[in-house]
Amino acid sequence: MCGITGYVGDGVALDGTDGGTDDDSGARVGDFVHEGLRNLEYRGYDSAGIALVGASSGLTVAKRSGEVANLAVPDVADATLGVGHTRWSTHGPPTDANAHPHTDCDGDVAVVHNGIVENYAALKADLSAHEFTSDTDTEVIPHLIEEELAERSGAGDLLDAVRAVEDRLEGSYAICAVREGADRIVVARRGSPLVLGRGADATFVASDVTAFLEHTRDVTYLEDGDVASLSADGVEVYADGDLVDRETETVTWEADAAEKGGYDHYMRKEIHEQPESLRQTIAGRLDVDRGEVDLDVSFPPGFLADLEEIQIVACGTSNYAGQYAARLFEELSGVRATVDIASEYEFGAGRSPDRTLVVAVTQSGETADTLGAVRRANAAGARTFAVTNTLGSTVTREVDDTAFIRAGPEIGVAATKTFASQVATLAMLAVSIGRERGALAAADVRPVLEGLRDLPGAVQQVLDNENRVREAATEYGDSEAFFFVGRKLGVPVALEGALKLKEISYDHAEGFAAGELKHGPLALVTPDTPVLALLTEGGRADETMNNVTEAQTRGAPAIGCVSAGDEYGTLDVSLPVPDVGVAEPLVANVYLQLFAYHVANDKGRSIDKPRNLAKSVTVE
Ligand code: M6R
Repeated sequence: MCGITGYVGDGVALDGTDGGTDDDSGARVGDFVHEGLRNLEYRGYDSAGIALVGASSGLTVAKRSGEVANLAVPDVADATLGVGHTRWSTHGPPTDANAHPHTDCDGDVAVVHNGIVENYAALKADLSAHEFTSDTDTEVIPHLIEEELAERSGAGDLLDAVRAVEDRLEGSYAICAVREGADRIVVARRGSPLVLGRGADATFVASDVTAFLEHTRDVTYLEDGDVASLSADGVEVYADGDLVDRETETVTWEADAAEKGGYDHYMRKEIHEQPESLRQTIAGRLDVDRGEVDLDVSFPPGFLADLEEIQIVACGTSNYAGQYAARLFEELSGVRATVDIASEYEFGAGRSPDRTLVVAVTQSGETADTLGAVRRANAAGARTFAVTNTLGSTVTREVDDTAFIRAGPEIGVAATKTFASQVATLAMLAVSIGRERGALAAADVRPVLEGLRDLPGAVQQVLDNENRVREAATEYGDSEAFFFVGRKLGVPVALEGALKLKEISYDHAEGFAAGELKHGPLALVTPDTPVLALLTEGGRADETMNNVTEAQTRGAPAIGCVSAGDEYGTLDVSLPVPDVGVAEPLVANVYLQLFAYHVANDKGRSIDKPRNLAKSVTVE
């Protein structure tokens, strides 16, 4: 997830402010772009860059690694338009060279991009005559635009060129393109957000309205497939080649809410970002038809064939993601998989280090307990692998291989979107190991890959049902305690559901394997202890429902996340989960996140910064 923004206009903001202290309108164009980037930094802060176009000074690009504050606005007194980018790295490390904007060979065209161009390798191969200066997927775009403009003898319109290029891009993207000598910004959107800020003599564009809200509240949200040409006088939006009308609406959020995308808390915003973050997680990595996964990782020859054990080490939510994955590793790769709480990990006697893969799952990449486990595994001579969200984090420097979950920055202390992306990434790793070991035929793996492919849409359907969960939270939120139960893949989700609730609502919540209820916890069950159950595919729904009934017999209300099409008539609340096979418990988890959120919110808790907790725990 990166942030992109742009401004074209007279240098006077739409509310009459000048956006800076300099009375030079060209300088103010750069100031507006820089200000937009500062407001978008929550989307990424690995590097920042700006491209400005001046009436006679041409195209000027400034970019560097690090935060937006480190980037000086280029001094272009006659600038009339500009675009900017703040990066959350996915392809290539956070270096100056990989910072956006990226340009064509002659430095006439500059592009900023949010998303992933899945077919960039093939496109780059077609562009072998061009000079590339970065490791990014993005850089193919300005070079493709250059080719399109050349085909039109250099005189063609930037809009036509971008439209032609768009047809060749696969994946998710929002782009802004500028060209020396052109008086407009051309933007395109497919799968990544893009919104326009409208005014009489200026137009803003950004990944979200936060970028320019201080200057205009009149906005137009672009739709997937839209390409638009922005000038100081207005915008033209095209869909399938036709000029279309897109509604302009007025944003009523206050600045604080706008930073959170209109939500009251980062946590809720991040829960709602899951369709987008999951799309990024899987982008370019799944080949459903061939039953293949490409995580861009290669193990030494023979390592996977000889592999005897996968040991997952992680803490908290990441540990539950690991528990979900362990079951998939065993089923899909045929290798024994164990999960350790990182602070409890020892490389056990009797294990062969050279036949063991130790997988550290850590959102931050900085958790001291997890790093300690990785160091113990390294010292024992095992091969180590990180699944993390954070490029350049300590764990990436200490392991042999890394797969990034690409969820974008997560600000709420309670992990939400990163759990989903961790499980999806680990599931892809399980498929990849299973296929490379020859343990899985393409046909066997297809349902799993289809489930992963359909995850973003399935999560969206759950989010669209938020009101039902909110009502349940209001009805049961004041209970004495909450129990979460599931079987198989439902167990780690039950544990995660309980952790989420206790973390942010401070209520007593516990997760159990449903079959264990009768071995002790049932003594705690009363009419004042709701049971939340995972009744989905991959979670032995009927057996779990038997255990739920045992709790209901003792008076407990029951809330069930139920596979679409199934019905358990005795549930007090039934929440439908779309059919995505073994990914269903992961989708059901979104209901549990929303339940925890609304219970905590009704109680006025400090949701984004719960008491006594920190986002990254760097002490043992
Ligand atoms: O950064 P990590 O994934 O290594 O963090 C591990 C735990 O501290 C973390 O998942 C914690 O449990 C979350 N706050 C739970 O929401």
